[in-house]
Amino acid sequence: MGAPEPAREIEFRPSRMIHFLDFSNDKMVAKAPEIAAKTDILLGNLEDAVPVDRKVAAREGLIRVGKEMDLGDTQLWARVNSLDSPWVLDDLTQVVAEIGHKLDVVMIPKVEGPWDIHFVDRLLAQLEARAGLTRPLLVHAILETALGVTNVEEIAAASPRMQGMSFGPADLAASRRMKTTRVGGGHPGYRVIEDPHADEGAARMTAQQDPWHYSIARMVDACTSNGLLPFYGPFGDIKDTLACETQFRAAFLLGCVGAWSLHPAQIDIAKKVFSPDPEEVRFAKKVIEAIPDGRGVHMIDGKMQDDATWKQCQVMVHLAELLAKKDPELAQAYGFTA
Ligand code: GLV
Ligand code: MG
Repeated sequence: MGAPEPAREIEFRPSRMIHFLDFSNDKMVAKAPEIAAKTDILLGNLEDAVPVDRKVAAREGLIRVGKEMDLGDTQLWARVNSLDSPWVLDDLTQVVAEIGHKLDVVMIPKVEGPWDIHFVDRLLAQLEARAGLTRPLLVHAILETALGVTNVEEIAAASPRMQGMSFGPADLAASRRMKTTRVGGGHPGYRVIEDPHADEGAARMTAQQDPWHYSIARMVDACTSNGLLPFYGPFGDIKDTLACETQFRAAFLLGCVGAWSLHPAQIDIAKKVFSPDPEEVRFAKKVIEAIPDGRGVHMIDGKMQDDATWKQCQVMVHLAELLAKKDPELAQAYGFTA
């Protein structure tokens, strides 16, 4: 019916941070190009955190950004309102009609199962055909309900439009009735404790645990097994930069490619965490140079290397090369400049 052909593969572009902006604020619209220069992905937020009386202004601001602003090679995404809300139909209809050719990805919140993706997929095809788009819009799901986590594999496989997923700890906590009031991170009450000692007065060692590990790991598997990109979502305590960095790093090590930034300070944290460490990149390059065909078993710096570690090194070096193309400082840190 005239919609573009589906994408066969999800292109991996620099994706260390999805920076959230509310374009109902004219100042944010004006600053979009300046902020875009510092981020990998810029997102116009239309959903939660945008008050009901500013929903239309946020949508109109996003459309202005898409029409009037030059964002360079930074991607432009939209987080539309949830599929059960009174705004989503106008969000999708107007945004695709007006700036569909500028938009890379549509983020859908509160996805509960593959049926939500099928609905969006069909609707987008209609809107793309009507707008005469030549490139298919991709879909990014937020994993933030108990039902969504239960169906995460089916969601990942629901459509060739699926670009990735973000982990949404705030809505997920509410949906699961977790007894927290935070956006991501740990909780002092969620911990393990060692057994009592013979000396009953001796202190028992105890440590906080990660309440998100299981769901993030499931999301990473669901995404990567379908060629999608997994992201950690928001971290709400803006002042606690160390906790934000710790949360982002745990997600990075598990396989996430990036996280949301809700404040400029978090852009820098994401850049630091989701760009591989220069020391690790150097070691990975050393392994690849020492084992050009990736075969056999070798000892490098006292560590066993085989086909599997060689593949890990390829992941590290490929990511470093991709980011170095965008960021000359990183290129230098990785030793990729002549
Ligand atoms: C994100 O939308 C969240 O609910 O954490
Ligand atoms: Mg949410």
